[in-house]
Order: sequence, then C-alpha cells, then structure tokens
Amino acid sequence: MSDASGQIDHVLTEDRSFPPPAEFTERAVFSSQSQYEEVYARARDDRDGFWAEEAKQHLHWFEPFTKVFDGQTSKVRWFVDGKTNASYNCLDAQIDAGRGDKNAIVWEGEPGDTRTLTYRELRSEVCKCAAALTEIGITAGDVVSIYMPMTPELPIAMLACARIGAIHSVVFAGFSSESIADRNNDAGAKLVITADGLYRRGKVLPLKETVDEALEKSPTVKNCLVLRRTGNDNVPMTEGRDLWWHDTVDHQSDDFPAVPLDSEAPLFILYTSGSTGKPKGILHTTAGYNLWAKRTFQWVFDHREDDVYWCTADCGWITGHSYVVYGPMAAGATCLMYEGAPNHPAEDRFWDLVEKYKVTILYTAPTAVRAFIKWGDEHVDKHDLSSLRLLGSVGEGINPEAWMWYHKKIGGERCPIVDTWWQTETGGIMMSPLPGITATKPGSCTRPLPGVIPSIVDETGKDVDPNHGGMLCIAEPWPGMLRGIWGDEQRFVEQYWSMIPGKYLTGDNARMDSDGYYWIMGRIDDVINVSGHRLSTIEVESALVSHEAVCEAAVVGREDALKGQAIAAFVTIRGREPNEELRKELKMHVRKQIGALAQPDDIRFAATLPKTRSGKIMRRLLRDVASGREVAGDTSTLEDLSVLAKLNDDEA
Ligand code: WTA
Repeated sequence: MSDASGQIDHVLTEDRSFPPPAEFTERAVFSSQSQYEEVYARARDDRDGFWAEEAKQHLHWFEPFTKVFDGQTSKVRWFVDGKTNASYNCLDAQIDAGRGDKNAIVWEGEPGDTRTLTYRELRSEVCKCAAALTEIGITAGDVVSIYMPMTPELPIAMLACARIGAIHSVVFAGFSSESIADRNNDAGAKLVITADGLYRRGKVLPLKETVDEALEKSPTVKNCLVLRRTGNDNVPMTEGRDLWWHDTVDHQSDDFPAVPLDSEAPLFILYTSGSTGKPKGILHTTAGYNLWAKRTFQWVFDHREDDVYWCTADCGWITGHSYVVYGPMAAGATCLMYEGAPNHPAEDRFWDLVEKYKVTILYTAPTAVRAFIKWGDEHVDKHDLSSLRLLGSVGEGINPEAWMWYHKKIGGERCPIVDTWWQTETGGIMMSPLPGITATKPGSCTRPLPGVIPSIVDETGKDVDPNHGGMLCIAEPWPGMLRGIWGDEQRFVEQYWSMIPGKYLTGDNARMDSDGYYWIMGRIDDVINVSGHRLSTIEVESALVSHEAVCEAAVVGREDALKGQAIAAFVTIRGREPNEELRKELKMHVRKQIGALAQPDDIRFAATLPKTRSGKIMRRLLRDVASGREVAGDTSTLEDLSVLAKLNDDEA
C-alpha cells in the first residue's frame, strides 16, 4: 500500500470547504440535504422497491420485468425478464418526449469543421448503420470492435450495435495493432469499424493501416467497415473484406426498429488493465447499466433541458461510454463533442469551444487541468467562460492545487466542482458531490450516491473506523455493476469477489473522514494511473521482456506533476550496450506493443534487480529510487541496485 502514503499526507492537510452557491441550490435536482438523506435511505432500505420505480420511470420497456433483482455477489440479474433497448432509450424515447428537434450532438472536428445532429437526425443515422450491420451479417450477440476518431460516427456505431443487440468493444484509437488484435481475439470480434485516418495536431495519423496489421492476426474478423474522415486516398482496401462506410451505410433506410433485448443482454465489452498482464474485457449489460448511466448523469450533473454539456473524454474509455453516450443521451441532453487535441491550433482550443458553444457543464480530467495550468492563464483569459455553471473531474483524484485553479480560473468561483469517483467496472459514478447540496473539499469525492453502500475494510475484512485507511469495497449490488470479465469467470471471481467475501473489491484504498466524506488513496495493486488512464505495471513489463535485449524488467509508477504518475522501468539486459539508443528502442518497442500511452518515461539499466530472499522484486524500493533521483540523460553505466536491496530486505 506504499503508493498511498504520499497522497495521504497531501490530502490530510486539506480542510477547506466550499458550500454550493445559493442560486445553484435553488434550482438543483437535489436541493436539500434531507432530500438526499431520504432518497439514500430509501435506496438502501428498500432497494428493490426503489429501483423498480426508477427503472419503470426512466427506461422504456417493451416487456416489463417480473423481478427487480436476483442473485448474489458476482452473479446478479437486474430487472429480470424485462425487455428494453439502450439505443431506443437514447433516441426513440427522446423523440417521443418531444426532443426530436433538439440537438443531441454538437460536434467540432480538429480542423474546425462542424456538424450538429438533432435527436431525430441521430436516430436516422443510427438506423442506417444498424441496417448496414445487419446486411453485413452482424446479429444479436456478435462482437464488433470499434477503432475510430471522435467523430459522430463513433457514437452512431455504438448505438447501432446496441440497436440490434450486437456487443461493441471500443478500442481507444491510440492503441497499437497488437492491442487491437488481442482484443479482437479475446472477444471473438466479427467486424472492425474504423476510419481512413485521424487528425491529431494538424497531422493525419493512420488508423486503417494499424487495423490491417491487427487483422493479419485476427482470424475471427470477417469484415472491416471504413469511414472516410481524412480523405486519405492511399488507404489500402482488401477486396471482399473491407467496405467503405459511405458505400455501405449511407443508402440504407433511416428507419430500423430497435430490437427488444433482455435486460441482461450484453451491451458492451470494454478492455481495461488489471493487476495481471492481460487487459480484461469488462462486461456491461443493457438495462441496469443504461439506468445507472442515466440517473447518475442527472443527479451529478444536475441536468436541465437547456444545458450544453461537454464531457471531454474519448469514447474509447468508460467515461466516454457512460457520459458522452449512454447517460446524457438517455437523459435527452445536448452534448458537445470535440475530435482533436486541446492545444491545436493553440492552447486555448477548449476555452474557445466553451465560449463558442456556450457550454454550461464541463467534465474533464485532472491531467488536463494540470496541463492548462502549465500552458498559462493567458489562454483562458482570452475567452468568456460565463456560460459555465458546473465543473466535473474524473479519472484520478484531483490534487488541491489543480482543484483551486479549476475553481477560480475556469469556474469563476461560482461553479461547483463534482469530483466523481468510479471505475470501468462500476458502469457509472459511485461517489460524488451533488452540486446543489454538497459542500466540497478539494481532493475528496465526498459521499456515495443513492444505491451505493461503500465499506472500507482491513485485511481481515473488518470495517475500519472513520479516519483510518483501508481497502474500499462496495457492500451491496447496484444496477450498473459489471457482470463479468469476458470469457474468464474465474478471474472475475478471484479479482473482485474473493478477498473480501460478500463484497465487491474496488482495488482502491480509501479513508472516510469525520464528516462522512471519502478520500481515495491510490491502488492496492500494481495498477498505475497515467494521465487518468489505467495501466498494469506487469503489462508494461511483459512488453519490455518481449524485446530480445531485455532479460528482466520491473515497472513502477513515480509521481509526475502533469500525468499524476509517470512510468519508470528498470531493466536488465543482454547482448547490448546500455545506451541512449537502446533506451529509445525499448520505448518504441512498448509503444508498438501496447500504444503510446504505455511508453515508459524513464528507462534505467540495472546490473540486477533488487529482490527479496524469496525472489520477489522489491517494488517499493524501486518506487523510492524512481521518484528520488532524476535519470541522468545518457547514463550508460549499469546501476547496482543490489546494494540497496541488502539494506532493505527486511521490510520488503
Ligand atoms: C481512479 C475511470 C480518485 C481510481 C472512471 C479508480 C479516481 C480508477 C477517481 C478507475 C477520482 C477514478 N478520485 N481516483 N475521482 N476517478 N479514479 O476504470 O483508482 O479508467 O479505481 O475509470 O481510477 O479507472 P477507470
């Protein structure tokens, strides 16, 4: 648990508190503490009654459910026997509610091109895509991998899958061909949807070529559907396998009825890093997930009909799934979507977008906030941000310094900040301030939402006292919870349900203070958080040792002012000189194996890795070494860490 110590010191000294502004409270969804207490108590004490009402009121049912909840711990079913459809809830239900002409997506591409889609228009596009998927031979239960830029066609493809009961597996467009192939194979994907390229800081990056490489190793994939985005004419198309989106989708009928699907029909798989090497396919199902995404969106973002809401996450991550697509659209929100980098053509792009589209709610990540601070206030000062009324944060704890800057500089001291704690596994936000009622404390995700029963336990599973750190668990099931790891029941049970019997183990450490506020204190396992993205140190180690020059590798996270954590790798090598050239080569190798986000920041050559007598690598020691000393640019001597190991052996 050594990762937590630095953060504990950091937040223990934090005692500032910011009550919500009165004018915000007046109009808020939750406008009094007693209202929250009442709803929270109801959801806890009459779980099934509470969620029955919620589900009936907030989802469309082709056939009603006969039972609210069935099962226990890892094996659960919500809204048993009911039939619904997430695409219907996000589109048709909105049109029925009178939002047909309301903007669903307001999109801006990186080069500055724009597109808006009303709910009616979005439904038409989704219907065409659903018809095309059907024509290609995709049916309910088939897996479709999606590897696309943040264009409207990305949510369109997701919702088209949902419409016909196909299971989407979105792969963030920064991952390597190896990573795509691994995911295709693990899920047994039949189709990949991609684009001819991606704009990033004015350049066109290849996507189709990367997919082509992956497809050489993806025997289950029969077809590849390719969106023309960049107009890159040299895109290789394989006859009989590859299809252009405009040839396949555009001419289809714009009316394709949503298929009634079982509440527990798989909606999507999303791969995320765990404590072991291979990313795991987190499985979410239809009704419970959709309800959780919708209701948490409405509660936490205090959504109003005239809001312009912007979640800056890419659909390749869970935040994009739940808070670009399934939550806001099931709530009929207008969502701004932006394709590109925050510093293109200049560092004020985000603030330009907020001003231009009069964004009222902004949801972004601490790593972005820290980058804005670094780029300088002048980029913010150029723009009128007075449309903003609420700010959100996700992905990692937001350090008090960044919180204060976000509050003052972006929020003009008038916008509440919701620091939302949740995970790919939880489907949606679990702990967060409710902006109309919760006095916020910088660095705390404050209190659980209705339906969430947190419990902080020690190694024996006993609840710890307030102000004591421990492992964060969730004691009761909730509708948005993951239903499994794709194809690996055993790992699912071992990872989440075995260590603390009867409770879901989050993998995070936490502490509750005397006010009942929660403070997240880092991970209990070898997962590191780089710019808000989860990576397993073992995953990076596996990538390193797959290089012929590497004998052994140990990867740890070290504190980084911008990324939260940076990746430090210690390697022992054979047959090569420990020099800058090899260092570069190893970085590129990891990039190729996993993707740019996993590229180590530091590579240090060691004569041996420090190990305990029983042969375990002393990670804690390496973490200290990694954060204590700067890596000298071109050190070419091998560091002898075994000396340190001897000194520290007892406490490993
Ligand atoms: C961390 C992202 C502190 C945490 C939605 C969690 C946070 C992991 C916060 C999940 C927060 C996310 N405060 N830590 N507000 N939000 N985390 O699956 O360690 O990509 O377990 O989901 O990120 O990352 P994931």
